[in-house]
Amino acid sequence: MEMKKKDLDWKNLGFNFFDTNSHVEVEYKDGRWGEIKVKKDPYLPMHVAANCFNYGQACFEGIKAFTTKDGDTVIFRPEENAKRIRKSAERLDMKAPPVETFVEAVKLAVKENLDYVPPYGYGASLYIRPVLLGTEPQILLTASKTFKFFVFVIPVGPLYSKGFLPVRTVVVEDYDRAAPQGTGMTKMSGNYAAGMKPDRLIHEQGYSIGLFLDPKEKKYIDEFGTSNFIGITKDSTYMTPKSPSILPSITNNSLKKLAGDMGMTVAEEKIPINDIDRFAEVGACGTAAVITPVYSVTYKGKEHIFGDKDAAGPTLTKLYKEFQGIQYGEIDDRHNWMTKVD
Ligand SMILES: Cc1ncc(COP(=O)(O)O)c(C=O)c1O
Repeated sequence: MEMKKKDLDWKNLGFNFFDTNSHVEVEYKDGRWGEIKVKKDPYLPMHVAANCFNYGQACFEGIKAFTTKDGDTVIFRPEENAKRIRKSAERLDMKAPPVETFVEAVKLAVKENLDYVPPYGYGASLYIRPVLLGTEPQILLTASKTFKFFVFVIPVGPLYSKGFLPVRTVVVEDYDRAAPQGTGMTKMSGNYAAGMKPDRLIHEQGYSIGLFLDPKEKKYIDEFGTSNFIGITKDSTYMTPKSPSILPSITNNSLKKLAGDMGMTVAEEKIPINDIDRFAEVGACGTAAVITPVYSVTYKGKEHIFGDKDAAGPTLTKLYKEFQGIQYGEIDDRHNWMTKVD
Protein backbone atom coordinates (compact mmCIF):
# COMPACT_ATOMS: atom_id res chain seq x y z
CA MET A 1 0.00 0.00 0.00
CA GLU A 2 1.28 3.46 -0.92
CA MET A 3 2.21 5.52 2.15
CA LYS A 4 0.48 8.86 2.38
CA LYS A 5 3.22 11.46 2.70
CA LYS A 6 3.24 14.74 4.63
CA ASP A 7 2.45 17.83 2.66
CA LEU A 8 6.00 19.21 2.61
CA ASP A 9 7.93 21.15 -0.01
CA TRP A 10 10.09 18.09 -0.80
CA LYS A 11 11.98 19.90 -3.52
CA ASN A 12 13.25 22.63 -1.24
CA LEU A 13 14.00 20.77 1.97
CA GLY A 14 17.11 22.15 3.57
CA PHE A 15 19.04 20.72 6.49
CA ASN A 16 17.00 22.55 9.13
CA PHE A 17 15.55 20.82 12.14
CA PHE A 18 11.83 20.40 12.78
CA ASP A 19 9.87 17.88 14.82
CA THR A 20 8.49 14.72 13.21
CA ASN A 21 5.92 12.24 14.60
CA SER A 22 8.07 10.59 17.25
CA HIS A 23 11.48 9.25 18.23
CA VAL A 24 12.47 5.96 19.88
CA GLU A 25 14.32 5.45 23.16
CA VAL A 26 16.03 2.58 24.93
CA GLU A 27 17.42 2.75 28.43
CA TYR A 28 20.40 0.92 29.95
CA LYS A 29 20.22 0.31 33.68
CA ASP A 30 21.03 -2.45 36.16
CA GLY A 31 23.49 -3.82 33.61
CA ARG A 32 21.06 -4.37 30.72
CA TRP A 33 19.24 -2.70 27.85
CA GLY A 34 15.46 -2.39 28.19
CA GLU A 35 12.64 -2.31 25.64
CA ILE A 36 12.64 0.06 22.67
CA LYS A 37 9.90 2.65 23.30
CA VAL A 38 8.25 5.05 20.86
CA LYS A 39 7.96 8.58 22.31
CA LYS A 40 5.92 11.45 20.94
CA ASP A 41 7.32 14.01 23.38
CA PRO A 42 10.68 15.21 22.00
CA TYR A 43 11.93 16.29 25.44
CA LEU A 44 13.91 14.01 27.78
CA PRO A 45 13.51 14.27 31.53
CA MET A 46 17.15 14.31 32.66
CA HIS A 47 18.93 15.00 35.93
CA VAL A 48 20.97 18.21 36.00
CA ALA A 49 23.94 16.20 37.26
CA ALA A 50 23.76 13.66 34.40
CA ASN A 51 27.24 12.66 33.28
CA CYS A 52 26.64 13.76 29.65
CA PHE A 53 25.89 17.36 30.70
CA ASN A 54 28.82 17.76 33.05
CA TYR A 55 31.53 15.58 31.55
CA GLY A 56 30.36 15.11 27.97
CA GLN A 57 29.92 11.33 27.95
CA ALA A 58 28.02 11.40 24.67
CA CYS A 59 28.37 10.12 21.12
CA PHE A 60 26.12 9.84 18.09
CA GLU A 61 25.69 8.56 14.53
CA GLY A 62 24.28 9.79 11.22
CA ILE A 63 22.45 7.53 8.75
CA LYS A 64 20.08 8.05 5.84
CA ALA A 65 16.90 6.37 4.60
CA PHE A 66 15.53 6.73 1.09
CA THR A 67 12.46 5.98 -0.98
CA THR A 68 13.61 3.91 -3.95
CA LYS A 69 12.48 4.10 -7.54
CA ASP A 70 10.17 1.14 -6.81
CA GLY A 71 8.64 2.82 -3.75
CA ASP A 72 10.46 0.83 -1.03
CA THR A 73 11.85 2.52 2.07
CA VAL A 74 15.50 1.56 2.57
CA ILE A 75 18.24 2.45 5.05
CA PHE A 76 21.91 2.69 4.04
CA ARG A 77 24.18 0.26 5.98
CA PRO A 78 22.77 0.84 9.51
CA GLU A 79 24.72 -2.12 10.93
CA GLU A 80 27.98 -0.26 10.12
CA ASN A 81 26.83 2.68 12.25
CA ALA A 82 25.84 0.21 14.97
CA LYS A 83 29.38 -1.17 14.98
CA ARG A 84 30.90 2.31 14.93
CA ILE A 85 28.88 3.61 17.89
CA ARG A 86 30.07 0.56 19.82
CA LYS A 87 33.67 1.62 19.09
CA SER A 88 32.93 5.22 20.14
CA ALA A 89 31.29 3.91 23.32
CA GLU A 90 34.22 1.64 24.09
CA ARG A 91 36.67 4.59 23.91
CA LEU A 92 34.38 6.70 26.12
CA ASP A 93 33.81 3.88 28.63
CA MET A 94 30.09 3.77 27.79
CA LYS A 95 27.71 0.90 27.07
CA ALA A 96 26.26 0.90 23.56
CA PRO A 97 23.30 -1.19 22.41
CA PRO A 98 24.01 -4.50 20.64
CA VAL A 99 24.06 -4.21 16.83
CA GLU A 100 20.61 -5.89 16.54
CA THR A 101 19.02 -3.49 19.06
CA PHE A 102 20.58 -0.49 17.31
CA VAL A 103 19.30 -1.59 13.89
CA GLU A 104 15.87 -2.44 15.27
CA ALA A 105 15.61 1.01 16.94
CA VAL A 106 16.69 2.74 13.71
CA LYS A 107 14.14 0.77 11.67
CA LEU A 108 11.39 1.54 14.17
CA ALA A 109 12.20 5.28 14.16
CA VAL A 110 11.88 5.25 10.35
CA LYS A 111 8.70 3.16 10.43
CA GLU A 112 7.05 5.56 12.88
CA ASN A 113 7.88 8.44 10.52
CA LEU A 114 7.27 6.85 7.11
CA ASP A 115 5.15 9.83 6.08
CA TYR A 116 8.26 12.00 6.52
CA VAL A 117 10.52 9.86 4.29
CA PRO A 118 10.82 12.01 1.15
CA PRO A 119 9.24 10.44 -1.94
CA TYR A 120 11.49 9.29 -4.79
CA GLY A 121 12.60 11.88 -7.30
CA TYR A 122 13.48 14.92 -5.17
CA GLY A 123 17.08 14.03 -4.27
CA ALA A 124 15.95 14.13 -0.64
CA SER A 125 16.23 11.60 2.19
CA LEU A 126 15.39 10.94 5.82
CA TYR A 127 18.35 11.78 8.05
CA ILE A 128 18.51 9.46 11.06
CA ARG A 129 20.30 10.58 14.22
CA PRO A 130 21.05 7.92 16.87
CA VAL A 131 22.44 9.40 20.12
CA LEU A 132 23.95 7.72 23.18
CA LEU A 133 24.21 9.58 26.51
CA GLY A 134 25.62 8.81 29.95
CA THR A 135 22.69 9.68 32.25
CA GLU A 136 23.85 8.91 35.77
CA PRO A 137 23.81 11.90 38.15
CA GLN A 138 27.44 12.28 39.18
CA ILE A 139 29.91 14.77 40.47
CA LEU A 140 32.89 12.42 40.69
CA LEU A 141 34.67 11.93 37.41
CA THR A 142 33.69 8.33 36.71
CA ALA A 143 31.87 6.63 33.86
CA SER A 144 28.09 6.56 34.02
CA LYS A 145 26.42 3.25 34.83
CA THR A 146 23.15 4.27 33.18
CA PHE A 147 22.68 5.28 29.55
CA LYS A 148 20.00 6.49 27.21
CA PHE A 149 20.04 5.62 23.53
CA PHE A 150 17.55 7.41 21.30
CA VAL A 151 16.95 7.83 17.58
CA PHE A 152 15.22 10.76 15.95
CA VAL A 153 14.73 11.55 12.28
CA ILE A 154 14.32 14.56 10.00
CA PRO A 155 13.67 14.82 6.26
CA VAL A 156 16.51 16.63 4.52
CA GLY A 157 17.39 17.91 1.08
CA PRO A 158 20.89 18.00 -0.38
CA LEU A 159 23.42 19.43 2.15
CA TYR A 160 24.41 22.15 -0.31
CA SER A 161 21.36 23.79 -1.82
CA LYS A 162 23.13 24.45 -5.13
CA GLY A 163 23.83 20.72 -5.48
CA PHE A 164 26.96 18.81 -6.53
CA LEU A 165 29.17 21.86 -7.02
CA PRO A 166 32.81 22.38 -6.02
CA VAL A 167 33.62 24.31 -2.84
CA ARG A 168 36.69 26.19 -1.55
CA THR A 169 38.36 24.74 1.52
CA VAL A 170 41.22 25.77 3.80
CA VAL A 171 43.69 23.94 6.03
CA VAL A 172 42.85 24.84 9.63
CA GLU A 173 46.22 25.82 11.11
CA ASP A 174 45.30 27.35 14.47
CA TYR A 175 43.08 24.59 15.89
CA ASP A 176 43.06 20.78 16.05
CA ARG A 177 39.94 18.63 15.89
CA ALA A 178 41.69 15.64 17.42
CA ALA A 179 44.64 14.90 19.70
CA PRO A 180 47.23 12.16 19.18
CA GLN A 181 45.76 9.16 21.04
CA GLY A 182 42.62 11.23 21.68
CA THR A 183 39.05 10.70 20.45
CA GLY A 184 39.32 11.72 16.78
CA MET A 185 38.48 8.21 15.61
CA THR A 186 35.17 8.31 17.51
CA LYS A 187 31.95 10.18 16.87
CA MET A 188 32.10 11.71 20.32
CA SER A 189 29.87 14.79 20.64
CA GLY A 190 32.69 16.86 22.18
CA ASN A 191 34.78 16.54 18.98
CA TYR A 192 32.11 18.57 17.22
CA ALA A 193 31.84 21.17 19.99
CA ALA A 194 35.60 21.70 19.61
CA GLY A 195 35.15 22.18 15.86
CA MET A 196 32.47 24.86 16.03
CA LYS A 197 34.71 27.88 16.51
CA PRO A 198 37.22 27.00 13.75
CA ASP A 199 34.23 26.21 11.53
CA ARG A 200 32.70 29.65 12.08
CA LEU A 201 36.05 31.35 11.51
CA ILE A 202 36.66 29.64 8.17
CA HIS A 203 33.10 30.42 7.01
CA GLU A 204 33.73 34.07 7.87
CA GLN A 205 36.78 33.89 5.59
CA GLY A 206 34.65 32.59 2.72
CA TYR A 207 35.59 28.90 2.83
CA SER A 208 32.98 26.13 2.95
CA ILE A 209 34.92 23.53 4.91
CA GLY A 210 38.11 23.20 6.92
CA LEU A 211 40.77 20.53 6.39
CA PHE A 212 42.63 19.30 9.47
CA LEU A 213 46.17 17.94 9.48
CA ASP A 214 47.45 15.16 11.72
CA PRO A 215 47.62 16.65 15.22
CA LYS A 216 51.11 15.32 16.01
CA GLU A 217 53.38 16.41 13.17
CA LYS A 218 51.02 18.69 11.23
CA LYS A 219 52.50 17.15 8.07
CA TYR A 220 49.83 14.78 6.83
CA ILE A 221 46.23 15.25 5.74
CA ASP A 222 43.76 13.96 8.34
CA GLU A 223 40.20 14.86 7.35
CA PHE A 224 37.72 17.66 6.86
CA GLY A 225 35.68 18.79 9.88
CA THR A 226 32.78 16.42 9.25
CA SER A 227 33.93 14.34 6.29
CA ASN A 228 36.84 12.22 5.09
CA PHE A 229 39.34 13.43 2.46
CA ILE A 230 39.50 11.67 -0.89
CA GLY A 231 41.83 12.49 -3.73
CA ILE A 232 41.93 11.12 -7.26
CA THR A 233 45.48 11.18 -8.59
CA LYS A 234 46.35 12.15 -12.14
CA ASP A 235 46.69 8.41 -12.95
CA SER A 236 43.24 7.64 -11.48
CA THR A 237 44.16 6.17 -8.10
CA TYR A 238 41.58 6.67 -5.34
CA MET A 239 43.58 7.89 -2.33
CA THR A 240 42.44 8.51 1.20
CA PRO A 241 44.50 9.16 4.36
CA LYS A 242 45.51 6.44 6.77
CA SER A 243 45.48 8.01 10.22
CA PRO A 244 44.60 6.89 13.75
CA SER A 245 42.83 10.19 14.48
CA ILE A 246 40.15 10.27 11.77
CA LEU A 247 36.61 8.93 11.85
CA PRO A 248 36.31 5.75 9.74
CA SER A 249 33.67 7.04 7.30
CA ILE A 250 31.08 4.54 6.09
CA THR A 251 30.66 6.60 2.92
CA ASN A 252 34.41 6.43 2.27
CA ASN A 253 34.45 2.69 2.95
CA SER A 254 31.62 2.25 0.41
CA LEU A 255 33.19 4.58 -2.18
CA LYS A 256 36.42 2.59 -1.96
CA LYS A 257 34.44 -0.54 -2.90
CA LEU A 258 32.78 1.26 -5.83
CA ALA A 259 36.14 2.63 -7.00
CA GLY A 260 37.51 -0.95 -6.86
CA ASP A 261 34.46 -2.16 -8.83
CA MET A 262 35.31 0.43 -11.48
CA GLY A 263 38.83 -1.00 -11.77
CA MET A 264 40.54 1.87 -9.99
CA THR A 265 43.50 1.33 -7.66
CA VAL A 266 42.52 2.22 -4.09
CA ALA A 267 45.26 3.42 -1.73
CA GLU A 268 44.91 4.22 1.95
CA GLU A 269 48.13 5.81 3.15
CA LYS A 270 49.67 8.83 4.85
CA ILE A 271 49.25 11.78 2.48
CA PRO A 272 51.68 14.67 3.08
CA ILE A 273 49.92 18.03 2.73
CA ASN A 274 52.89 19.10 0.62
CA ASP A 275 51.86 16.47 -1.98
CA ILE A 276 48.39 17.98 -2.45
CA ASP A 277 49.12 19.00 -6.04
CA ARG A 278 49.35 15.36 -7.10
CA PHE A 279 45.55 15.21 -7.19
CA ALA A 280 43.44 15.88 -10.25
CA GLU A 281 40.25 15.78 -8.16
CA VAL A 282 39.61 16.22 -4.46
CA GLY A 283 36.43 15.49 -2.53
CA ALA A 284 35.02 15.45 0.99
CA CYS A 285 32.86 12.42 1.70
CA GLY A 286 30.24 11.65 4.33
CA THR A 287 26.63 10.68 4.89
CA ALA A 288 25.20 14.18 4.56
CA ALA A 289 26.46 14.99 1.06
CA VAL A 290 27.98 11.66 -0.13
CA ILE A 291 30.71 13.62 -1.96
CA THR A 292 31.36 17.35 -1.85
CA PRO A 293 33.68 18.17 -4.75
CA VAL A 294 36.55 20.40 -3.63
CA TYR A 295 37.66 23.14 -6.01
CA SER A 296 40.57 24.31 -3.90
CA VAL A 297 42.56 23.77 -0.70
CA THR A 298 44.28 26.85 0.68
CA TYR A 299 47.38 26.05 2.75
CA LYS A 300 49.73 28.64 4.22
CA GLY A 301 48.10 31.33 2.08
CA LYS A 302 48.47 29.46 -1.26
CA GLU A 303 45.36 28.22 -3.06
CA HIS A 304 45.84 24.77 -4.64
CA ILE A 305 43.26 24.23 -7.37
CA PHE A 306 41.66 21.01 -8.62
CA GLY A 307 39.76 21.14 -11.87
CA ASP A 308 36.87 23.32 -12.78
CA LYS A 309 35.25 25.89 -10.50
CA ASP A 310 31.76 25.16 -11.82
CA ALA A 311 31.73 21.38 -12.22
CA ALA A 312 32.96 18.34 -10.33
CA GLY A 313 35.62 16.17 -11.98
CA PRO A 314 34.64 13.09 -14.04
CA THR A 315 35.75 10.40 -11.55
CA LEU A 316 34.06 11.88 -8.49
CA THR A 317 30.93 12.51 -10.56
CA LYS A 318 30.88 8.87 -11.67
CA LEU A 319 31.36 7.62 -8.10
CA TYR A 320 28.68 9.99 -6.77
CA LYS A 321 26.14 8.87 -9.38
CA GLU A 322 26.85 5.21 -8.76
CA PHE A 323 26.52 5.67 -4.99
CA GLN A 324 23.25 7.60 -5.21
CA GLY A 325 21.95 5.23 -7.85
CA ILE A 326 22.33 2.34 -5.39
CA GLN A 327 20.70 4.35 -2.56
CA TYR A 328 17.69 5.25 -4.71
CA GLY A 329 17.31 1.70 -6.09
CA GLU A 330 18.19 2.75 -9.65
CA ILE A 331 21.32 0.57 -9.74
CA ASP A 332 21.61 -3.01 -8.49
CA ASP A 333 22.51 -3.12 -4.78
CA ARG A 334 25.33 -5.59 -5.51
CA HIS A 335 27.01 -5.19 -2.12
CA ASN A 336 23.77 -5.62 -0.11
CA TRP A 337 24.04 -2.19 1.47
CA MET A 338 20.36 -1.30 1.64
CA THR A 339 18.18 -2.53 4.54
CA LYS A 340 14.49 -2.55 3.73
CA VAL A 341 11.96 -1.15 6.20
CA ASP A 342 8.87 -3.38 6.02
C1 LIG B 1 34.62 13.81 11.49
C2 LIG B 1 33.85 13.06 10.46
N1 LIG B 1 34.53 12.41 9.51
C3 LIG B 1 33.90 11.71 8.55
C4 LIG B 1 32.53 11.64 8.50
C5 LIG B 1 31.87 10.83 7.44
O1 LIG B 1 31.43 9.62 7.97
P1 LIG B 1 30.21 8.84 7.33
O2 LIG B 1 30.55 8.59 5.92
O3 LIG B 1 30.10 7.58 8.10
O4 LIG B 1 29.03 9.73 7.47
C6 LIG B 1 31.78 12.31 9.46
C7 LIG B 1 30.31 12.25 9.42
O5 LIG B 1 29.74 11.37 9.96
C8 LIG B 1 32.44 13.03 10.47
O6 LIG B 1 31.75 13.68 11.39
